[in-house]
Amino acid sequence: MAIREIVPYTDKFIRKQSKPVKVFDENLWELLDDMQETLDTVKGAGLSAVQVGVLKRVFIININNIKMEFINPVITKKSGEQYKKEGCLSVPNNFNYVKRPQTVTVTAFDRYGNKFTLTCEDWTAVCVCHENDHLDGILFVDKICVPPDGKAED
Ligand code: NI
Repeated sequence: MAIREIVPYTDKFIRKQSKPVKVFDENLWELLDDMQETLDTVKGAGLSAVQVGVLKRVFIININNIKMEFINPVITKKSGEQYKKEGCLSVPNNFNYVKRPQTVTVTAFDRYGNKFTLTCEDWTAVCVCHENDHLDGILFVDKICVPPDGKAED
């Protein structure tokens, strides 16, 4: 395993479109293991492959020490709304409100190529949306908003 360097928002690479994973092999597992180690080291909540310089549709999240891996994710359902402050390992020292669905359903594959579907809410839904955006070159700073009165959460 190895810690990988994080691509900053100032690098145009972060805006590139990631491509679907076709082969679920050792190369993918090494990428995922390195991403886990990198995320652990910086104590982040999520990390996408593009952030470590790899244009594959892969992201991981780590919430309350529950680690999840998503390969070729597709968000199939969104409902409700929430406004939480987000940050990003590629955008240091910037924390701002973004509007996200309260609940999302995501279909993805695990590292062995098994398909799964997960419905998540609250902070987990925020992380899934934030990381999924990275796969299309979208950063949370593109979506900063002022929450309506009484809707802001920390
Ligand atoms: Ni991010």
